Amino acid sequence: MGELMDRKPLIAGNWKMHATHLEAIQMVQKLSYRLDPDCYERVDVVVCPPATALRSAQTVIETDHMSIRLGAQNCHWEENGAFTGEISPSMLAKLDVGYVIAGHSERRQLLGETDDMVNRKVKAILANSMIPILCVGETLQEREDELTTDVVKTQIEAGLRGIGGESAGSIAIAYEPIWAIGTGRNASADDAAETIDVIRSTVGRVWGDEAAAVVRILYGGSVNPGNIAGFMAKRGIDGALVGGASLEPDTFAAVVQYWKN
Ligand code: PGA
Repeated sequence: MGELMDRKPLIAGNWKMHATHLEAIQMVQKLSYRLDPDCYERVDVVVCPPATALRSAQTVIETDHMSIRLGAQNCHWEENGAFTGEISPSMLAKLDVGYVIAGHSERRQLLGETDDMVNRKVKAILANSMIPILCVGETLQEREDELTTDVVKTQIEAGLRGIGGESAGSIAIAYEPIWAIGTGRNASADDAAETIDVIRSTVGRVWGDEAAAVVRILYGGSVNPGNIAGFMAKRGIDGALVGGASLEPDTFAAVVQYWKN
């Protein structure tokens, strides 16, 4: 399924809770210098700084006419209201944010984000013409109990509930096995591709085969310059969500330009 579609790779750096707004300016500038000007034709390059650095990153991207796109790590699903500490999707859209991560496992595990909340976020992000990066993935215990397939199917079905297949081209899904995040222990390219196949067929059941062939599915979890080419060589893997290796511009540039490694 999906073999004939030409899906443009997407490589997104998730900086998590790292970088002040001043550091962010330098990181974006350095990344831009390290990337070949024509690399953006091959891959969509996204950085997701913390919320406090979005405005500074946006300004440098705009002023220097960079092709790097801006992503946010989270948002609320309401447009405004009494939600202390939250940021709405329209506030992000106004900052030229093009992508928003929804349902990262750290938020699910540490901050109690449920499938229902993730689903509302995905809808709100789409309603504001941004691309949600919907994260799914199993814990080590679930993997050992052979529950990986059930877990990702449930997360995908719940995450996409009430959303039509015409949104397939405007959504990215990131398969991030929790045991591989920040541990230096990446899934093998074969394992990642196998679960990503399950995800694509689940999307096919929810939205139909055509939509499943369009949706971009990324791998995330200890991606680095040494293993990225192996993931990208798999037909079903359309890019990567990169944490630790996105913090150092040289390293992230080597991940983005994986064909040069
Ligand atoms: P990692 O994080 O690359 O540091 O494992 C990935 C992620 O959490 O998105």
